[in-house]
Amino acid sequence: MRLIFIGPPGVGKGTQSALFASRMGIFTLSSGEIFRKEIEAQTDLGRLAQSYIRHGDLVPNGVTIEMMAKRLREPEVRKKGFILDGFPRTIRQAEALEEILTELDMPLESVVSLEVDVQLIVDRLKDRLGCTKCGENYNSKSKPPTRDGFCDKCNSPLMVRSDDQPDAIRNRLESFRAETAPVVDFYENLGLLRRVDSSRDPEQVYQEILKSIQ
Ligand code: AP5
Ligand code: MG
Repeated sequence: MRLIFIGPPGVGKGTQSALFASRMGIFTLSSGEIFRKEIEAQTDLGRLAQSYIRHGDLVPNGVTIEMMAKRLREPEVRKKGFILDGFPRTIRQAEALEEILTELDMPLESVVSLEVDVQLIVDRLKDRLGCTKCGENYNSKSKPPTRDGFCDKCNSPLMVRSDDQPDAIRNRLESFRAETAPVVDFYENLGLLRRVDSSRDPEQVYQEILKSIQ
């Protein structure tokens, strides 16, 4: 499988990627997760990324493309296929991705656009918690951990993401409208786009995605 999950912040890209990874063994590459690991490890890339991410702004195209190209070239990704979560997010990134996948002879199969109302996005992000170690996603309302404040999978503490603050959420929504919505049109024009309603519960959304890509 070679898929992209695209959509605004909080729509469920990470939740659905995790379901596909655990049930189908597909490799998922989340640009946001990779940046968060770099931030945690206090690398130069992490410091640079953090200066954008905490305000909800996009990290510059050059470093983002380079980082994702490196991952896509890894033998395991080439063997297993991939789901890209959060990349590409600008037309420049989408064009660069086309070049990389052509070079690797790995054409995209489908681009799944996850879609919900803005109000639902704000509600979901307000209650989101993430694991500081393994990145597993929770939601204090819709998917609470078994033990308050700790990850079910690895027992590490859960945290609120630094960009899940009202100002940063506003900026992320604006970046999506200005920079990423044109990428959705780009894939629609290539005939690859599948639109999926992501307002239902995660299992139903998962089944809808499966149907849409068959
Ligand atoms: P990134 O990590 O990609 O964040 P995002 O796009 O803002 O998306 P989120 O991770 O917030 O939401 P999601 O769609 O994964 O939803 P989730 O499944 O968590 O990027 C972060 C930042 O990094 C960007 O702002 C940017 O600065 C930078 N960046 C990343 N990629 C970049 C790029 N390519 N170029 C430049 N900069 C880049 O779900 C959200 C919540 O809702 C959770 O609590 C979950 O449990 C809950 N939920 C999910 N689905 C459902 C459901 N069906 N029903 C009920 N609750 C649900
Ligand atoms: Mg995510």
